Amino acid sequence: MSYPGLLIWYDQHKRALPFRGIRDPYGVWVSEIMLQQTRTETVAGYYTRFLSLFPTVQALAAAPEEAVLKAWEGLGYYSRARNLHRAAQEIATAYGGIFPGDYEAIRALPGVGDYTAAAVASIAFGLPYPAIDGNLTRVISRVHGIREDVGIPSVKRKIETLAREHIDRDRPGDWNQALMDIGATVCVPGTPECAACPLAEKCNARQEDDADLLPVRAAAKPPVPVAVGVGLVTCGSRILMQRREAALLRGLWVFFLVEGYSGREAMQKKLRSLGLDVAFKADLGEARHVFTHRVWNMRLYHFETSRPSLVRDFTWTDAQALGALPLPTAMKAAKKAAETILNAAACIE
Ligand code: ADE
Repeated sequence: MSYPGLLIWYDQHKRALPFRGIRDPYGVWVSEIMLQQTRTETVAGYYTRFLSLFPTVQALAAAPEEAVLKAWEGLGYYSRARNLHRAAQEIATAYGGIFPGDYEAIRALPGVGDYTAAAVASIAFGLPYPAIDGNLTRVISRVHGIREDVGIPSVKRKIETLAREHIDRDRPGDWNQALMDIGATVCVPGTPECAACPLAEKCNARQEDDADLLPVRAAAKPPVPVAVGVGLVTCGSRILMQRREAALLRGLWVFFLVEGYSGREAMQKKLRSLGLDVAFKADLGEARHVFTHRVWNMRLYHFETSRPSLVRDFTWTDAQALGALPLPTAMKAAKKAAETILNAAACIE
């Protein structure tokens, strides 16, 4: 039993998105990985460019990881890009480049969870799996009046069971996307627009007038603040860059970072211990970046050296090469300051 009126609403009101109407599983998969933690409006631009850079699973599998990270630059949650790349290589070798067409095989790919497997299986292959994201959780909890914390596993299962009972068996991909669109445009967080909703007549929260309180969700822990020193260490028109090995931002390039920063003298000392004799040049102010579980409160400094000795895990980069490296958004302010410094140095040389 589907939700009456839902697919009629979808046919008339679905959002025009660049990945809409695509049945090619590779394209659907890329879009759903991008949509996991990123707003639809942001994904639209990235999606089209990513598909033109890597038009097939084989093209993605054959690309260097750094090129994939560069295409992902600014989208955040970079493990998604690394997993996408690994999964493409797995599809190329284990499945001869043909995207697997059953739920379990899709679910087993790196970076694919229940939500993404269901989205790809339903949209690309017409299989009846509900893709339960934040939007579906909100709509279903309101329609069925689920007034318990949706973070609790038994409540999650209740929502899954309801979704499985109601999914349209002929058009499961459209059913999922219809609920996603209703969640994004009509049944929005806070006060929904029930007058525009095809499910209003059947909606328990509307009858009880408490939609604004649903879904019930325990407050998330706030991200932990971390002091981070960011050193722009230059030698003429070149700057010291490091490829991250730590899990957070692995594979991306950053300036000289000290997490748990304890003053610029301490940073200078650390640079000396790497064999770099640097002079302090300027205080470049502060920047802040919020990750899911951490906030980086950054202080930016310019240091200079006249002897760019080779430092393990680091490289000396000019302004042009810097532009080609994948840098995380957390380095945006530092990158801007670095470009100003490097361009001024290049004029002098
Ligand atoms: N959010 C995640 N996947 C989506 C899709 N296919 N359509 C609309 N919103 C989405």
